[in-house]
Amino acid sequence: RNISIIGVPMDLGQSRRGVDMGPSAVRYAGMKERLLEIGYEVKDLGDITVDHTLDESEGQLKNLNEIARVSDELAATSDGVIKEGNFPLIVGGDHSIAIGSLAGISRNYENLGVIWYDAHGDLNTPETSPSGNIHGMPLAASLGIGHKRLVNLYAEGAKIKPENLVIIGARSLDPGEKELIREKGIRVYTMHEVDRMGMPAVIDEAIGYLKERTDGLHLSLDLDGLDPSEAPGVGTPVMGGMTYRESHLAMEMIHESGMLTSAEFVEVNPILDDRNRTADLAVGLMGSLFGEKLK
Ligand code: ARG
Ligand code: MN
Ligand code: MN
Ligand code: MN
Repeated sequence: RNISIIGVPMDLGQSRRGVDMGPSAVRYAGMKERLLEIGYEVKDLGDITVDHTLDESEGQLKNLNEIARVSDELAATSDGVIKEGNFPLIVGGDHSIAIGSLAGISRNYENLGVIWYDAHGDLNTPETSPSGNIHGMPLAASLGIGHKRLVNLYAEGAKIKPENLVIIGARSLDPGEKELIREKGIRVYTMHEVDRMGMPAVIDEAIGYLKERTDGLHLSLDLDGLDPSEAPGVGTPVMGGMTYRESHLAMEMIHESGMLTSAEFVEVNPILDDRNRTADLAVGLMGSLFGEKLK
């Protein structure tokens, strides 16, 4: 019952400045106090340093070098947290940081399961990316597809297997991402499935599916998975997202599964936000994810 918080003030993976202030905003919203109240021991390891002055793009990949350097440090830090027997809770920063968290965390499992709660697939490669933004690529890189610097980060090759991954809330997928989903048979619950089945059935099915094949579970939650009316402080909002209630229920059900071994909350951008509402929302979701309702 020990949580270690790792802040990653990364904004080089996308084009809206301000998401580097995400960790501050989430701390200010009372993350640590909330977790202490539930009864965890919480250690805040502070932020990993990001040099925002570097701009060393490589072809289609914006800021590749600094993102890879930070990811490597994040991988080592999250790996270390698990080896100490603690639960890594990573706070972004943009979603490119998932390359580092998955690289470090996956070292400790044979079959790490991943729930990717997001409006996007983040399954682009340098070839398929419409933007060159690395926050649109972390899942592909973790599956072993993309630029070798990202794919071989911290350890050679793929960090997770396509059959151990579930994407929930997708409603903006680029053509290359759709192709990859088909080719790898990745399980995706788009908003269509969320609407049709309802969130309880989606999470039940996702958990049942992952339970059979995985030995650890990482939640990667992009705040833009929620509807922009409830989470306005994000850089790439997409209409028609998951609601506040659906998201809290999802967090509660993931908690009840007893399977969760690590988590990250990304893309909170306080500059685009409305009185820190999106950071408040993130902290509330953490409360549900860590079992607040059972108190
Ligand atoms: N698919 C778009 C791209 O590759 C948007 C990605 C948004 N990703 C995110 N983590 N918010 O640029
Ligand atoms: Mn910056
Ligand atoms: Mn997203
Ligand atoms: Mn994302």
